Amino acid sequence: MLFSTLFSLVAVAASASAQTLSGQFTCAPAGAYTLCQNLWGEGAGVGQQNSTLLSTNGNNVSWRTVWDWANGPNNVKSYANVEHNTAKGVQLSSLKSAPTAWQWEYESQSSGIRADVSYDIWTGNTATGNPASAASSFEIMIWLSGKGGIQPVGSQVQSGISLAGHNWTLWKGPNANWEVLSFVSQDGDITDFNADLKEFFDFIQENYGVASSQFVQAIQTGTEPFVGSASLLINNFNVTLNH
Ligand SMILES: *[C@@H]1O[C@H](CO)[C@@H](O)[C@H](O)[C@H]1NC(C)=O
Ligand SMILES: *[C@@H]1O[C@H](CO)[C@@H](O)[C@H](O)[C@H]1NC(C)=O
Ligand SMILES: *[C@@H]1O[C@H](CO)[C@@H](O)[C@H](O)[C@H]1NC(C)=O
Ligand SMILES: *[C@@H]1O[C@H](CO)[C@@H](O)[C@H](O)[C@H]1NC(C)=O
Repeated sequence: MLFSTLFSLVAVAASASAQTLSGQFTCAPAGAYTLCQNLWGEGAGVGQQNSTLLSTNGNNVSWRTVWDWANGPNNVKSYANVEHNTAKGVQLSSLKSAPTAWQWEYESQSSGIRADVSYDIWTGNTATGNPASAASSFEIMIWLSGKGGIQPVGSQVQSGISLAGHNWTLWKGPNANWEVLSFVSQDGDITDFNADLKEFFDFIQENYGVASSQFVQAIQTGTEPFVGSASLLINNFNVTLNH
């Protein structure tokens, strides 16, 4: 019994790379990452979405998400994302660098889509803690794209911030028990992003009171669609925390 249970778990993991996820909260192993559909806001509209792991190689991952959402134009329907399995639990004070690369493209899109393509980085007072939980202190978003006039949580507090070779506005505001800080590209879509995320962490420590004792609890990257339809291809993504 124990043996056959183990065997079937292994079989599921091995076939995951060919799998298209379609359930509301379905996840699958994706090499160094975990790919999750997370259609948390689907009830605000009508439509569907699915996400497919294309390949993994070392710290790299490639995947695609296809969505078609109507109604609730001001409501996020989902955050299909990959979360790194081990790039977490690092205190900002001991972070030496956080190199990341992200190449993505819309393979197709309907006119007037409302969606972002974004990092969602969670920090808190403890080394471990789930995203959007009681353990969360800050949610740090980096929007490489924001289409259709959508805005992050809170209000814009600064513009013309030059980090990682691009210009950003910064938005700030509370959500539940944590504070959201969102960097939004002022340079249009950044489809080939290469950066050291430490630049963003340093900036919010120096200017927005984020304590160096905060721990990175999760790094997720994906897309928040509101309305429209699109196919988003992540050609390659990786992130590393060096400490
Ligand atoms: C990750 O992908 C990039 C770009 O395709 C490639 O240059 C690099 O060698 C890959 N790294 C690994 C470990 O596969
Ligand atoms: C994925 O979702 C798209 C958009 O709703 C749909 O057209 C497509 O048939 C779906 N594919 C799978 C394999 O579920
Ligand atoms: C991350 O991907 C970029 C290109 O997409 C590549 O140059 C770099 O070597 C990759 N880093 C790792 C750790 O695989
Ligand atoms: C950032 O803004 C400056 C000033 O407007 C501009 O000259 C520069 O081209 C911008 N950088 C990018 C990468 O677009």
